[in-house]
Amino acid sequence: ILGTVVVVGSINIDQVVSVNRHPLPGETLIGNDLELLPGGKGANQAVAAASLGGKVALVGAVGDDSTATAAMAILIASGVDTVEVETVEGPTGLALITVCENGENTIVVVPGANAFVDKAFVHARQALVASACVVVLQGEIPRSGIMEAARLAQGRVLLNLAPVIKLDEATLHLADPLVVNEHEASLLLNLLKPGTDFPGADRKIAQELLDWGMKSVVLTRGAKGALCVDDSGTLDVAAPVVTARDTSGAGDAFVGALSLKLAAGQSLQDAVRYAVRVGAFAVQSRGTQPSYPRVGDLLPQSKQ
Ligand code: RIB
Ligand code: NA
Repeated sequence: ILGTVVVVGSINIDQVVSVNRHPLPGETLIGNDLELLPGGKGANQAVAAASLGGKVALVGAVGDDSTATAAMAILIASGVDTVEVETVEGPTGLALITVCENGENTIVVVPGANAFVDKAFVHARQALVASACVVVLQGEIPRSGIMEAARLAQGRVLLNLAPVIKLDEATLHLADPLVVNEHEASLLLNLLKPGTDFPGADRKIAQELLDWGMKSVVLTRGAKGALCVDDSGTLDVAAPVVTARDTSGAGDAFVGALSLKLAAGQSLQDAVRYAVRVGAFAVQSRGTQPSYPRVGDLLPQSKQ
């Protein structure tokens, strides 16, 4: 049985420029080209899960400007239920992205309409959030909206704390799993245990987060795959070897795929194994949502 995934999160239009290398502070660089693509971590994750066959609804907001339609195009085409995406006054969320030749990116986000997705906004969608088998959250909407969604959830809460923002302990304790990359994991540890030097090894960071009181932690490690830690133990999943063209949104592809498998009742470890393959697929082509696999795009596991 496939349960519903409800993503409560951001919707952006991404302005993507490719560069030979990232600019240094104070430096002017000439970019190679500019593309406008749909993005936003919430929307990306919803698209990833829906493209792979998930039943997905998104709670979020876009502005009343002309970019809103472009920001929503792939969401709609991939079958995400957008009934609870509200059009509010002002600009749609915007991300300025530079992608350099090795596929690495930098991202600056201007929240725009995403700033409306606060406690009251989420509370007004209580029935939908409570009906979800998996509620997926990130750090690009106001913290009050994230905390309310986690509180209203009756299914599993997948918290992708990207970017890292300060949440209350109750919300962090509800996350199962918390999904963070290595950088975010150390930032979060420094917030939770100020002054402590975070340990260098990934396994130790994940274990420290678990010891702090997380139910389960998934650490994404880029080309190195992912690490999954819960009270059943630690699983290290290597990523298939691929050539990265654009890593932006690969973490979102991972999270969307993870939510889909959790909603289908798979164990966290099996869901992580699948999500690693989906993330690796996404880095091989340009953009976030346009690079996500559809059902049938992934090779059988034995061939990767
Ligand atoms: O994770 C990638 C996403 O981060 C981009 O699509 C951009 O919109 C920002 O939200
Ligand atoms: Na990509």
